Amino acid sequence: MKILIIHGQNHRGNTCMIAQELARKVKDRTQGKEEINEYFLPEAFDEPCRGCYSCFKNDLTKCPHYKKLEPVAEAILDADLLIFESPVYVYHATGQMMSLLDHFGTWWIVHRPREEMCKKQAVVISTAAGGGMKSTVKDMADSMEMWGVAKVYKYGVGIQALSPDEIPERILKKIHKKTDSLSAAVCRNAGKCNMNRRAKKWFYLMRFAHKHFPPMEPDYGYWEEKGWHGRGRPWVRE
Ligand SMILES: Cc1cc2nc3c(=O)[nH]c(=O)nc-3n(C[C@H](O)[C@H](O)[C@H](O)COP(=O)(O)O)c2cc1C
Repeated sequence: MKILIIHGQNHRGNTCMIAQELARKVKDRTQGKEEINEYFLPEAFDEPCRGCYSCFKNDLTKCPHYKKLEPVAEAILDADLLIFESPVYVYHATGQMMSLLDHFGTWWIVHRPREEMCKKQAVVISTAAGGGMKSTVKDMADSMEMWGVAKVYKYGVGIQALSPDEIPERILKKIHKKTDSLSAAVCRNAGKCNMNRRAKKWFYLMRFAHKHFPPMEPDYGYWEEKGWHGRGRPWVRE
């Protein structure tokens, strides 16, 4: 299983520790030979979206940041398991994480989703001192779900510590237990699920809109080419 971690910060703190622990457990369970691929933000990508609409009007490859974005985009498309993590900063994911995700608006199911997503699973992780884990996890899960990732697991935990060595023993135990159960679920569901229900609902809503309202290009042509206005579905493999 190809595992990719996108870290919402450059430092190796609480959230990074949990993401790496989970990735190691999945790798061990699957006896994976592949290296775990990791990108730290903003080191790996540091551009805010300019709002030029080049991606929506043309293609993601026309984004003014595409040269920097391409390695991260390709790594996401190539992975079987996506682990996105961010500490809670003022109740939300870090700015650099959101800036990265902004660049993939065209991958949302309502525009030009990528079929590769239907084979993937994702885990989104956040840690906080005490509050904001739910909204932070949602910041990232919204993208994974609307990209059409088959299964998205969410894990937010209050850490009560500034660094991993200060995490209270009882919370550490809870974290180890959770990474155990998450890694087991990921391995159990590998290859067994297609697109999450939220994305499927939006797929059918957009399909209806395409048929009953004036077509928006280039989205309409993309769906037509894929056969999604007919019997084709992104989650059905030939
Ligand atoms: C700028 C900033 C904002 C933060 N905002 C919150 C917050 O809204 N709620 C909270 O409980 N903790 C907040 N924290 C604490 C961190 O979320 C928490 O310590 C987290 O575990 C740090 O993870 P890390 O070690 O991966 O960076 C904030 C920390 C920073 C630096």
